Amino acid sequence: MLTTMSAAVRRRHVDEQIRRLESRLVREHDKVPPSLVHEWIERARARLGGAPVQDFVPLLVERAVRTSAREFPVDSSGLSGTYLSNWARNTARRLLAKELPRRWAHTEGVARRAEQVAHLLPPGEQDLLVAAAWLHDIGYAAELVDTGWHSLDGARYLRRAGVSPRVCGLVAHHSGAAAVAHLLGLADGLAEFDDDRGRLRDALWYCDMTTGPDGHPTTLDNRLAEIRRRRGPEDPVVRALDINVDERRAAVRRVHRLLRRAAA
Ligand SMILES: [Fe+2]
Repeated sequence: MLTTMSAAVRRRHVDEQIRRLESRLVREHDKVPPSLVHEWIERARARLGGAPVQDFVPLLVERAVRTSAREFPVDSSGLSGTYLSNWARNTARRLLAKELPRRWAHTEGVARRAEQVAHLLPPGEQDLLVAAAWLHDIGYAAELVDTGWHSLDGARYLRRAGVSPRVCGLVAHHSGAAAVAHLLGLADGLAEFDDDRGRLRDALWYCDMTTGPDGHPTTLDNRLAEIRRRRGPEDPVVRALDINVDERRAAVRRVHRLLRRAAA
């Protein structure tokens, strides 16, 4: 009984510390929306719920929030060009590298591919492509999971972080996401983001669809076969291939045509 009570007292003490910490962090990071600071705190706390020594939780939560705040784009209007792609790479690394190393390897491969084909786009869109390539799968990170559909969770996170609507839209709709969202009953959520059909979107789909899960270049057919094998027939991504496979192929074909023309 005594142990239970002291655990409850300790818990109240930690709650109080976290409450004060949140006020302080909101004050210190006045360019970050308070709701986002709150969200970072809650997520860090949830991750540390099972920590053996709860006394350290406030300190660890503070550290996690400060890391997120450091990477938060203070002025989203300045988030462009190289700064945008650097931020994108750092954000993706922070979210994926340790927790999901294979997903991170894939992401690195997609970003490499994006750098190779960026010249097909007008100068103002090249960094958007590279940034979207780094960010397209961040929604798989536990910290971001909300609906469970990574395209939507990633895009909503980016919107909260003040990233440009075009990048959010690219991430939301990448590689046939709309068909999967439809199957999952998340079409309304995805509709929060514009699907900017055009060369930039094609290029991102191309990079994703020609990079394997380990980050190595692959063909579209091998990639599709690998997706079916890895996920199994019941997975919504596989079921959605019936609807979006032609769209995926068409995007890859259009980029191949541009690459051929550029090489001629
Ligand atoms: Fe991907």
